Amino acid sequence: MANNLGARIRVVNNNNDTALDAVRTFWNEHVDDWKVARSEPGSAEFFREIEDYRFEKLHYLPRLVNYAGYAGQSVLDVGCGVGNDTSRFARGGARVTGIDLAPRSIELAMRNFQQRGLAGAFHVMDGERLTFPDDHFDLVYCHTVLQFTPHPDRMLAEIHRVLKPGKHAIIMTINRHSWMQAIQKIAKVDIDYLDAPVFRRSTIAEFRRMLRMFSSVRIVAERFPVKTKIHRGLKGALFNHAFVGTFNLLPRALVRRTGHHLLAFCDKRTAAGAERRDPDEH
Ligand SMILES: C[S@@+](CC[C@H](N)C(=O)[O-])C[C@H]1O[C@@H](n2cnc3c(N)ncnc32)[C@H](O)[C@@H]1O
Repeated sequence: MANNLGARIRVVNNNNDTALDAVRTFWNEHVDDWKVARSEPGSAEFFREIEDYRFEKLHYLPRLVNYAGYAGQSVLDVGCGVGNDTSRFARGGARVTGIDLAPRSIELAMRNFQQRGLAGAFHVMDGERLTFPDDHFDLVYCHTVLQFTPHPDRMLAEIHRVLKPGKHAIIMTINRHSWMQAIQKIAKVDIDYLDAPVFRRSTIAEFRRMLRMFSSVRIVAERFPVKTKIHRGLKGALFNHAFVGTFNLLPRALVRRTGHHLLAFCDKRTAAGAERRDPDEH
């Protein structure tokens, strides 16, 4: 497939699933965090703006995810978007592969890597039907994707299948009982992508049940209020100047379970069935 940034993109496993088609169409038109970028799409500055915004919101991610800890190892980023996190793993020396259902995302991820002088393999591919062999990757990473795919159980089964025994996956989803869901209901504040064709929230217990194929799972609730650049007017001002400060005065231990993002660190059983933990694992 030719695309308007000049790269050639191979669609690996196109199918006739109408639910997936709707998801693909939506994400082709809603590249994540695109709206914060002011620069020319595809320029180095454009990717920098998107990345800066992402890691301002998700400032805890580099503390929880050791992006530099996979040098020489194979990392798969499922639903990689424009390749923000993929590029962090690549900069840390990992051999990265990014897949995404939306051709536009893959086009931009490839451009992002080109702009940064990084190497990576990218494919338009359905994360519910990965074409990689069993036991193939040292890390499978999947951030802000599971809640948007029509059959999350299929995606999780695929993540588990392509992960090497004894290695781990890092998978994120949205918390059904989060502070953000609460203010969305009370103050009618918009949440990004509520209009996506699929948008599912899970409780911590439900997420744990979905991850039952892994031999051990640790779930961390994160993503607490930070000032928004997206919402303006009175609601934006109240949120930024009253809500964020007040909420963050509450002891974290008290509100921990209301974190908007649930981040799961999941081990795949070793071939021998014994647990093995990497020293850098969280
Ligand atoms: C909110 S974006 C997140 C992008 C990136 N992971 C990040 O955190 O910046 C969601 C992405 O998931 C992708 N996606 C949704 N369902 C998918 C599926 N079944 N297979 C592969 N990608 C999928 C979308 O195309 C979109 O690029």
